[in-house]
Amino acid sequence: MNARNDEEWHWSEDGVNFHTRKWVRPEDLNANGTLFGGSLLRWIDEEAAIYAILQLGNSRVVTKLISEIEFKASALQGDLIEMGLTATKFGRTSLTMRAVVRNMITRQRILTIDRIVFVSLDEQGKPKPHGFSDITYDRDRMPHEHPATGSIALPGN
Ligand SMILES: CC(C)(COP(=O)(O)OP(=O)(O)OC[C@H]1O[C@@H](n2cnc3c(N)ncnc32)[C@H](O)[C@@H]1OP(=O)(O)O)[C@@H](O)C(=O)NCCC(=O)NCCS
Repeated sequence: MNARNDEEWHWSEDGVNFHTRKWVRPEDLNANGTLFGGSLLRWIDEEAAIYAILQLGNSRVVTKLISEIEFKASALQGDLIEMGLTATKFGRTSLTMRAVVRNMITRQRILTIDRIVFVSLDEQGKPKPHGFSDITYDRDRMPHEHPATGSIALPGN
């Protein structure tokens, strides 16, 4: 019924954890009536920022690089899409991630991004060593300070 965009690809083999699902709404569509790429990129960038914050233990992270993106398939209004990320490289101040986005309804892979690089910054906006070298699956690196002030300890800390 719904042809897959890659016969060799199997739904369970993307190798990333899927954290977030989105419901494609009218405001997310382009003039063709399909998912607007800009909406999807905003969702991915936000997803990557949250992932980087939780991996690097620092709220002050910025997007440095997003590698080539090819939109292989799309989505229609009402479709459900899911986004997954995994860290592929812990640098000194940076984190490199791989992203996969899939349409849960058509079971097609919408895109993959091989490299999304975020950099951890200090209060002066300069790259700051994060000191981590592997993935955490827990919340043990959750930042303890309010990102806007850097000085207010959140409840429980
Ligand atoms: C992030 C920023 C502070 C980095 O400054 P910089 O002078 O490139 O700093 P560095 O050369 O020390 O590099 C910092 C890290 O980024 C990595 N990096 C730099 N350029 C890169 C590139 N083109 N591709 C991938 N990684 C890169 C470096 O390898 C380094 O990582 P490491 O410490 O893990 O090895 C600066 O580029 C910046 O402020 N950019 C704007 C970021 C931003 O505002 N993003 C939001 C979208 S507008």
